Amino acid sequence: MAFPQTRMRRLRASAPLRGLVRETDLRAGQLMLPLFVAEASSGDREPIATMPGVERLSLAAVVAEAREAAAVGIAAVMLFGVPAAKDEEGSGAWDEEGVVQLAVRAIKQAVPELLVATDVCLCEYTAHGHCGVLRGDGSVDNDASLELLARTAVSHARAGADLVAPSDMMDGRVGAIREELDGEGFADTPILAYSAKFASAFYGPFREAADSTPAFGDRRGYQMDPANGREAVREALLDVQEGADMVMVKPALAYGDLISAVRQATRLPVAAYNVSGEYAMVKAAAAAGYIDERAAVLEILTSLRRAGADTIVTYHAKDAARWLAEQT
Ligand code: PBG
Repeated sequence: MAFPQTRMRRLRASAPLRGLVRETDLRAGQLMLPLFVAEASSGDREPIATMPGVERLSLAAVVAEAREAAAVGIAAVMLFGVPAAKDEEGSGAWDEEGVVQLAVRAIKQAVPELLVATDVCLCEYTAHGHCGVLRGDGSVDNDASLELLARTAVSHARAGADLVAPSDMMDGRVGAIREELDGEGFADTPILAYSAKFASAFYGPFREAADSTPAFGDRRGYQMDPANGREAVREALLDVQEGADMVMVKPALAYGDLISAVRQATRLPVAAYNVSGEYAMVKAAAAAGYIDERAAVLEILTSLRRAGADTIVTYHAKDAARWLAEQT
């Protein structure tokens, strides 16, 4: 039956009716907040110009930030390290006294109920800024990088990380990390795999924050071509086979179709990463008065849930959690 018998507007007539038939929910407990912890920060908090509201944090400040995140009901933080020194191999990544390892221990001690996830990658620790080790000709050596990534993941787990999240896009890294974790007594540590991570223009502000811009070339030899959707599903399924516990699509806003496709292709929980450039666009437009920040952020996060994300990694997490608490 069509109009006039069917009237779609009947169920939109009041807030309670709209609430009754709302298909998608958004809760603070579904959000993960990325945090940058810096070894040699000048002061406790160093602003990041392109990401208003996000800062590079000292150890003390990262604990304070984690406490605040837990207080507003956020499920987890995702840690990124900004080390004082870099080298060819990125050895700071698996240093037991490295900046991320210290931060994990400090946060787990101060706020044990908050989940701590760690980004597992070499790009913040290598002098050349690529996500793996280089061959003589400057190309990234996939297989030689696997051992270093696995070592890094184990050092994070040993420090107390609740989840490890490899973002390097080397082939076989999920399997290599799973094997090393199991062998070292961390069979219960889940892997959140950045499965479909694209070579995106939207990572620009992050690279300033984490000081991880490649010194030469780009990441298109390991990160995915934004034109490829079927390949994203293949990547996710391979990570599932290798033992991933959760799979991620990144970036988020221009990739809703792939969040949905990955959601359909696997029964695993799916995460979406609402990346730095997406955050920067919203903040800039809101500061200019072009959009209403609160409404835009909640609409974006809800749309990612509707697309099929169980979990959302977002720099808006603290604001969103507060706004959601005010709504109810
Ligand atoms: C490290 C990494 C990056 C991001 C997460 N992990 C940067 C990159 O691959 O260049 C991007 C996050 C963001 O933009 O918010 N490999």
